[in-house]
Amino acid sequence: MESSSSPANFPRWAPSPSPSRLLLSPVEDTKIKSSSAAHDSAEDGISLSCSSMERIFPFSIGFKSTTTSTAYASAVEKSEAENAYVRRSGATDVELGSRENGISLTWEDLWVGVGDGKSGQKMILQGLTGFAQPGEVLAIMGPSGCGKSTLLDALAGRPSSNAQQRGKILINGRKETLAYGTSAYVTQDDTLMTTLTVREVVYYSAQLQLPNSMSKTEKKERAETTIREMGLQDSMDTRIGGWSRKGLSGGQKRRVSICIEILTRPKLLFLDEPTSGLDSAASYHVMNRIIKLAHRDGRTVISSIHQPSSEVFELFQNLCLLSSGITVYFGPASKAEQFFASNSFPCPTMTNPSDHYLRTINKDFDVEMIDGKTSTEEAINILIRSYESSNTLKQVHLKVNEICQQGGGALEKGRQTNFITQCLVLTRRSFVNMYRDLGYYWLRLAIYIALCLCVGTIFQDIGLTFGSIQARGSMLMFVAAFLTFMAIGGFPSFVEDMKIFERERLNGHYGVAAYVVGNTLSSIPYLLMVSLIPGAIAYYLVGLQKSSDHFAYFALVLFVCLMLVESLMMIVASTVPDFLMGIITGAGIQGIMMLNGGFFRLPDDLPKPFWRYPMYYIAFHKYANQGFYKNEFEGLTFPNNQAGGPPTITGEEILKGTWQVEMGYSKWVDLAILLGMVIVYRLIFLGIIKISEKVVPMIKALLVGVPKH
Ligand SMILES: Nc1ncnc2c1ncn2[C@@H]1O[C@H](COP(=O)(O)OP(=O)(O)OP(=O)(O)O)[C@@H](O)[C@H]1O
Ligand SMILES: [Mg+2]
Repeated sequence: MESSSSPANFPRWAPSPSPSRLLLSPVEDTKIKSSSAAHDSAEDGISLSCSSMERIFPFSIGFKSTTTSTAYASAVEKSEAENAYVRRSGATDVELGSRENGISLTWEDLWVGVGDGKSGQKMILQGLTGFAQPGEVLAIMGPSGCGKSTLLDALAGRPSSNAQQRGKILINGRKETLAYGTSAYVTQDDTLMTTLTVREVVYYSAQLQLPNSMSKTEKKERAETTIREMGLQDSMDTRIGGWSRKGLSGGQKRRVSICIEILTRPKLLFLDEPTSGLDSAASYHVMNRIIKLAHRDGRTVISSIHQPSSEVFELFQNLCLLSSGITVYFGPASKAEQFFASNSFPCPTMTNPSDHYLRTINKDFDVEMIDGKTSTEEAINILIRSYESSNTLKQVHLKVNEICQQGGGALEKGRQTNFITQCLVLTRRSFVNMYRDLGYYWLRLAIYIALCLCVGTIFQDIGLTFGSIQARGSMLMFVAAFLTFMAIGGFPSFVEDMKIFERERLNGHYGVAAYVVGNTLSSIPYLLMVSLIPGAIAYYLVGLQKSSDHFAYFALVLFVCLMLVESLMMIVASTVPDFLMGIITGAGIQGIMMLNGGFFRLPDDLPKPFWRYPMYYIAFHKYANQGFYKNEFEGLTFPNNQAGGPPTITGEEILKGTWQVEMGYSKWVDLAILLGMVIVYRLIFLGIIKISEKVVPMIKALLVGVPKH
């Protein structure tokens, strides 16, 4: 039997001793640390005020630093990052050459604040300065809530709506807008289409994002290779799954989200905790893959990360360590250990350095102060002060200036497939999603059938009596108002759809017009089904006008009304963030429209200001009711039970006298108006998205004050 220490038993990614952090015995390690510190200090002659203090930190395992000074800063020379890059990645000149076409991102004195009720403003990020370069990976680390996601959002040009931002963020030395297709951002939350399999999700995304110059087979291959790169080959045909049906695990979903964003090999990639939910081996493989991509093609990667294993930590070139939005350290990852050591917080031997950094700067649980030990608050202050006065920060400023002066190519939006293909792919994807999501249409179909059976049996064989006039009116009103009202039931599914649209739009996968077209086309077959089957049940059970063209008109109006309510709900979804609030808002709007649609209060009796003009004309129920009424009453004759009147009464007379229908135009005009409303509503949705995309940031920039500090 092979011994367990045999090299053959090591996993193939077993880390080799790092050039920056040798795997030595504790004694040797300590010797190296002190000698290197001494050497550095002699060379540099810089002494930090705190270094002579003997300090015991709660997490220090009895190690008392004897370091007298540090030359940490001297190690961060201009070429350091490049040397480290070449050393760590083995990059060649050719690869370094490709970095020139890449994207360099710099930020200086970046402040982000949010309104904080009575107390004014809460600062989330405070004066951050840093850079990210092609071919390098910057890791943003810090305790939960320290501002990692906020920093990524700010850099990616997606600050939250209530945040105010100040500072200079430059791309290749220029002020450019970074959004919609120029970079990719894997956010902290996974928003994926739960009904699709991994293969489908990634392949549809490849079809949407990759250019027309690539064949379908190439796109499929790219999708499958990417899935394999993320280690998801065994789950290719597993559905993503959501609340109703368990599918992928959290870590697998994370990897699918990464797959989608690295499909196009973006020049600038933001990752917010890409390894959450992954075991250490999976984290290593995922990060290694991303980092290899960055190195090979000169791509810039900025990633926040929690708790990386030492192997994963070794993969990063630069480290940005934050505590409550303040930089504790920004510089080469390999030098962070020296920085901590020089401030008397050396990383205990056999400890993962990233664990040590986080434990040193996490004050969230700092409730019990141990006598004689430095509190975390103090430790953080020492590190922050030390960093502020260090050469590292000066070097960072120099590097930022250098990058800004160097400039670089203009930011290009990746080549994508054309609008028609996007519409077709989105239609197909949405159609499959609607088919598989029971809540979208199938449940509605079942409820509609049940409701129409109820309507059909309650009003069964309505006949042509005088009383049937009122019954007909009520039955048609129920269909026009309450049945269409129930289209609200698909709203939660639609909101899920919108979240995916939002994510994909922000990453520039396609535009809002393609989404509207895709959503409209894919819903048509289902809406037709939902209006035809239950509609026929109600129509023929009640015994409305028998001819097929009368039924066709009835079903068409029902279909257009359902579409209209969906369009209305799209507008609601684009303005109200939450689905519960959306349902309440949508129900409220429809309730009002229903009320003044001309049935509950006859049109002539509606108060003229507001309710008659303009509300009566805005409510789609007016046109639906009048269309239905004209379709049904025209051509019928009823016995007249009213005293002193003629023996019979015609449908036209009922329309004019009883229902106060406008008879100046035909029922087809009502249908055309309803169709026009569908188009207008969808255009309003498109407009709202466009405005929130373009105009709101401009207005915000003009109106909102900069954070005070
Ligand atoms: N839009 C906002 N409005 C109010 N507070 C906010 C907003 N965005 C962030 N914050 C606050 O700012 C702090 C930093 O949030 P952020 O999400 O950036 O933390 P994080 O470092 O990403 O945390 P985690 O590691 O848990 O994801 C938190 O205290 C959070 O509550
Ligand atoms: Mg976060």
